[in-house]
Amino acid sequence: MHVAGAIHADVNNAGPQWLRVPNDLNALDSKLWSLTVRRDPDGVLSCGGLKATEAMAEQGSPLYLLDEEDFRDRARGFRDAFAGWQVFYAGKAFLSKTIARWVQEEGLCLDVSSGGELTVALAGGTDPARIAMHGNNKSVAELELALRSGVGRIIVDSLDEIGRIERLCSDNNWQARVMVRVTAGVEAHTHEYIATAHEDQKFGFSISNGQAMVALVRCFYSPHMELLGVHSHIGSQIFDTDGFEVAARRTMKLMAQFSDATGHHLPELDLGGGFGIAYTSVDDPATPDSLARGLREIVAHEAQSYNMAEPLMAIEPGRAIVGPTMMALYTVGTVKMVDLDGGSQRLYVSVDGGMSDNIRPALYAAEYSAVLANRASDQPAVLCRVVGKHCEGGDILVRDVFLPSDITPGDVVVVPGAGAYSREMASNYNHLPRPPVVAVRDRQLSPLVRRETLDDLMRLDVGE
Ligand SMILES: Cc1ncc(COP(=O)(O)O)c(C=O)c1O
Repeated sequence: MHVAGAIHADVNNAGPQWLRVPNDLNALDSKLWSLTVRRDPDGVLSCGGLKATEAMAEQGSPLYLLDEEDFRDRARGFRDAFAGWQVFYAGKAFLSKTIARWVQEEGLCLDVSSGGELTVALAGGTDPARIAMHGNNKSVAELELALRSGVGRIIVDSLDEIGRIERLCSDNNWQARVMVRVTAGVEAHTHEYIATAHEDQKFGFSISNGQAMVALVRCFYSPHMELLGVHSHIGSQIFDTDGFEVAARRTMKLMAQFSDATGHHLPELDLGGGFGIAYTSVDDPATPDSLARGLREIVAHEAQSYNMAEPLMAIEPGRAIVGPTMMALYTVGTVKMVDLDGGSQRLYVSVDGGMSDNIRPALYAAEYSAVLANRASDQPAVLCRVVGKHCEGGDILVRDVFLPSDITPGDVVVVPGAGAYSREMASNYNHLPRPPVVAVRDRQLSPLVRRETLDDLMRLDVGE
């Protein structure tokens, strides 16, 4: 199908202001794509030396394709830039046994936030001492699994939890290594951060109302706990270090006050994750090297101003490692032109996945981009919306993107930067089986998570 007329991008751009008409629809903006992605001379997109079309022929559609070389490279990038700090890969972004193994092979520690993630990490061979256990409402069973496995640290989040840990330790003669999660009164998102006095959210102990100090003192004097230090996480998709500066100032002031009150120097500070990635061409995230430079300066400065030794520092990047490493491949099923106000038009491109495999656009209006992957096209750009197959108007995968006007059923559309909080947040809405995650390296495909089948879904339905 060739779409002609007023919808052509050069004639009528009804997209958002930030969206530029690409000079070349076949070009790949390197900051959006993983290390080994190319457009081959025949126009087909390839990753790890394997064409997207070959990967789909072997593994079906839709498909999450993970570039192993890229994952390892980004993990090493953080490890090397933050040498001397502990780097915990945040498994909540995406976790499987193989990922847990790669994380350990590349010298990173692992942060988990449920008993399920902990089970995967342990099954993947992660040294329990290198695991941090998170969660604002860890069950007794989850805490018991963490303590029995000997995880390196539990990040405590409430006085109720501290009581549960003490009971478990006292009953079983265990000792828990803990950090106290505090809310530093900073909310960071992309370019903006807000420093506030009150914290209206479920995580952590407030520094400003004194709860954080109460929790620290309680853990410190508990016979069942070894208190390692303070943990703070300020937000997500953060592009610079301004928010971390405020968080470091407030957490290190708390550590200095704790030291004044008890005579004990808390040895560790974890500043959490949240480092941003490029989802569209207008995003310009910082590199691990520049983040590390900024954060090191901030910590050194704050330590000096509170006259304290620099703590052993930790960070927890998730998205910034696995996000750009994975792309989502979909097959186009239908294309439909829709009239917009003001006489412009938009082409709705429906694919064989949707909000069940990537809820982020529907959940918090996350932006993505997309390209045609099974061929090049010399046709003009047309404003498109890539949508899924669910019974929901908000079932959008890419809200605004320019694709070639000859896009047609059977084409393959690929969404870059789809590795974090997409397949990991997937659901079975409309009883769609969830797509697989398959790694590629040197033309070899290796499934990390297999495709779900209707039989898998039917096994859960135990009714008559
Ligand atoms: C405590 C904590 N650490 C790390 C992360 C990872 O964040 P990101 O994937 O944005 O780096 C999160 C994300 O929610 C988090 O809550």
